[in-house]
Amino acid sequence: MSTVDVRRLRLAASFVLLTYLALHLGNHALGLVSLDTMEAGRWWFTALWRSTLGTLALYGAFTVHGVLALWLLYRRGSLRMPAWEVVQYGLGLALPALLAIHVVATRIAWWRVGADDPYARIVLGLWVVGPPRGMWQATTLAIAWLHGCIGLHYWLRFRPWYPRAAPWLLGVALLLPALALLGFVSAGREVAALARAPGWVETLLRETHAPRPAEATMLVAIRQSFLNAYLAALVGVLVARGIRRIARGRAAVRVTYPHGRVVAAPRGLTILEASRLGGIPHASVCGGRGRCSTCRVRVVNGLADLSLPHEAERRVLARVGAAPDVRLACQTRPVSDIAVLPLVVPSIEPGDAMTPDARQGRERELAVLFADLRGFTRMAENKLPYDVVFVLNRYFATVGAAITGAGGIANQFTGDGVMALFGVDAEPAAGCRQALAAARAMAEGVAALSHELAPELATPMRIGIGVHTGPAVVGWMGWGESFYLTAVGDTVHVAARLEQATKDYDCELVISEDVAARAGVDTASLPRHEIALRNRARPVVVRVVKRAADLPT
Ligand code: FES
Repeated sequence: MSTVDVRRLRLAASFVLLTYLALHLGNHALGLVSLDTMEAGRWWFTALWRSTLGTLALYGAFTVHGVLALWLLYRRGSLRMPAWEVVQYGLGLALPALLAIHVVATRIAWWRVGADDPYARIVLGLWVVGPPRGMWQATTLAIAWLHGCIGLHYWLRFRPWYPRAAPWLLGVALLLPALALLGFVSAGREVAALARAPGWVETLLRETHAPRPAEATMLVAIRQSFLNAYLAALVGVLVARGIRRIARGRAAVRVTYPHGRVVAAPRGLTILEASRLGGIPHASVCGGRGRCSTCRVRVVNGLADLSLPHEAERRVLARVGAAPDVRLACQTRPVSDIAVLPLVVPSIEPGDAMTPDARQGRERELAVLFADLRGFTRMAENKLPYDVVFVLNRYFATVGAAITGAGGIANQFTGDGVMALFGVDAEPAAGCRQALAAARAMAEGVAALSHELAPELATPMRIGIGVHTGPAVVGWMGWGESFYLTAVGDTVHVAARLEQATKDYDCELVISEDVAARAGVDTASLPRHEIALRNRARPVVVRVVKRAADLPT
């Protein structure tokens, strides 16, 4: 069975179990109306889940879910995992043992000794006869619900619609168990009142064929056998993991990360597990289930030794337009030394997970804008540091708003300079139009700011802007927390040179003719110049705009 089939099977099983649980809790909530209403609901509930089809679906799902959980526990190369996964695993592994008491007392008792399990008898046992058992059962249901909700959340959270639906789903997730608990309490009180009537309990036990002592002993034995078998399976998995580790010996593969960090991981671990083992931050929004693509890495060395990606991995990589040397770290198990470059920042949000963007570095046609505040160094010399920072921050806020307002990405603020990218998510022509709109807005914004700060300034603020368009390699670059989307290449150098040329031409804006052509700007009235650049055979043809606000639209 392929990994895709296994995943689908697990998902289907989880869905059946969560549906069962939601209906079960809903049935409990009917206790808020009355015990009779609760019982009427149970009739429909058992009609569904005790039918042949319902039985097969429920117990089939339970078996599949449990067996696959144990199998995945065996397959995991490392038990290091994020906190939420620890909680999810812990709750899931505890559930079969916790549920055994209730399942044997209801379903198995009904099946093996013909004992009926109406709410009246079950609530009598849990609320009146043995309240600690009632607490146990309520806790077990809460754990099962929490386990299901965590699974659902981590399955749905990269869907584009999920952030909008999440508050509503959270409301349902909290309301349903709360109502179920209140329904149970209400039914408990009703049953306690009924139990005070002489003969009511005896009649109830007789009419529902409550298990006799010998039958109860047999049911306890069944429960114990199940618990023993489950415990044996769990221990078996852990022992098998240990044996596998010994069998693999001390053989380790070395996974090399940027900046020379190396993790020696036992053979058989995925790259993501190696990262976790070495304490290297590594994005994994779906928790290593091969769904989100955020763990993707570029294999810098050792690609030829890797086995080919399986179908599910191929599909995810194709969805994000990954290059041939890119693999999902959570699905790739290196068999020899390997060097990788994680392509997604560890702090990526789920909503960005499947965005086929430039995060992994790719060449794009885009517009690059550079801007600089004229004479700022001179101005800063005559001011207190506090004033310099104040003016600069006002300036950055002004130009930053102009850039993002036009649809660009302001990605670098250095000194009094700014670099911005346009067209990362749009066509090159649209990127050029955005860049020119931003240039106009920046010039207008700086003029307004200069007017506002006039009493503080010896001379008015003036800006110089250069814009060029062409191919550039765009990607997330940096280190540690300082990761940002930026671009490198000749187009960037030319844009920076055009910004410097604004000093030569004593103007606010210099644009390359390529930008004007792509943006559809009529340049007939704009002075034309040619700028020679080092390492370029041909000069760049530019148009000079005295005041950016006057640029023809
Ligand atoms: S962690 Fe989500 S695909 Fe690897």
